[in-house]
Amino acid sequence: MSPVAGLPNPGNLALSQKEDFKAFADAPRRQHPEVLTRKQLKELGTQARAEYDRSRREWHANLGPIKTPQLIELHEDLWDITDSNLQDGDKAKGAVAVDAFPGLGKTTSVLAFLREFHRREIAEKGEFTDQGHERWPVCRVGLTGNTGMKDLNRSMLEFFEHPGRSRGTTVQLGRRALDCMLSCEVRVLALDDLHFLKWGKTSGIEVSNHLKWIANEFPVTLLMVGVGLADKGLFSEGSAAGDTALAQTGRRTTRLDMRPFTITNEMGRREWKQMLLALEQRIVLADKHPGMLANDLSDYLFSRSTGHIGSLMTLINRGCQRAVRSGSECLDKDLLDRVKNDEASENARRELEAALESRRLTSRPRSRLSA
Ligand SMILES: Nc1ncnc2c1ncn2[C@@H]1O[C@H](COP(=O)(O)OP(=O)(O)O)[C@@H](O)[C@H]1O
Ligand SMILES: [Mg+2]
Repeated sequence: MSPVAGLPNPGNLALSQKEDFKAFADAPRRQHPEVLTRKQLKELGTQARAEYDRSRREWHANLGPIKTPQLIELHEDLWDITDSNLQDGDKAKGAVAVDAFPGLGKTTSVLAFLREFHRREIAEKGEFTDQGHERWPVCRVGLTGNTGMKDLNRSMLEFFEHPGRSRGTTVQLGRRALDCMLSCEVRVLALDDLHFLKWGKTSGIEVSNHLKWIANEFPVTLLMVGVGLADKGLFSEGSAAGDTALAQTGRRTTRLDMRPFTITNEMGRREWKQMLLALEQRIVLADKHPGMLANDLSDYLFSRSTGHIGSLMTLINRGCQRAVRSGSECLDKDLLDRVKNDEASENARRELEAALESRRLTSRPRSRLSA
């Protein structure tokens, strides 16, 4: 839990138990700290200044989720699919796979969707089912390590804090999970970081059979999230000799992507600028100015993040922490040069920088270049 006002910090929560998820779904939005001028900063007493800086640290560490085009598109697709799956009876429900590289915002965007979905369902249908059970519209499991089928079934029971989660065979655990979801009227089952499931040559078929079993038996929209799910054969049309399980999982699964920002066309450059403008508005530094990110640092931020939102947010978060600590109260190239970013984006950086410097590439849209 975050130390401020008891707001749960999604970053610190595994969100793999229902009460954690509920706390996350019910939490009010964070309060944007007021942007003070240098003069106002000076006038703060020691205590008040410490308090203000702490609230800024918290705020900058949790700048989101921002409604990026990627997030908005993903949400539209998820609403289409889940809502069309709410039909009665035992018609098989379509499954969804959000399949993209790390750091593109899959977990963040999916959680934001699950939050909205939970809130809508509870508001419309109430906290209890007609049978008097707690209603849990969403069951969300984040996989870790090398998870087997049994661990997966157990972690679904773990979400419900089910007393029978520690005993039994894979099949028994699976049945209990199914019972739980039926009585709590779960509508969306989200499995995050599904690439952690043990897929090997032989277990690949086992995995896909298991997912197929869930998709067929559980009256839920199965929402799978992970990296390289397509490569693992989740969508392939039965590449494994004579096996149709993989093919069937593929056919009923809609694959959704999360793309990085790109600057190779005007539309991409406009989206990048919008993103930086949205970020700028959230930054709480005394010397920030319009265009600080969207004009002055547009190329620089693009080359350092290569358009990956995870890298961009890390850089901005760390930069803001440093700007508060050092008293510079502004983001510029000098300060950001001293801030470390993740390895992957550092490697891609040099090549991009060369292209940007030789003006073969720009991250800024043609129109209205100035602030
Ligand atoms: N829409 C967004 N607004 C703000 N920050 C975001 C957004 N999407 C992702 N991030 C940030 O990027 C980082 C990586 O996102 P994450 O959702 O964990 O990616 P993935 O699950 O694809 O690896 C997170 O730390 C998150 O804070
Ligand atoms: Mg993730």
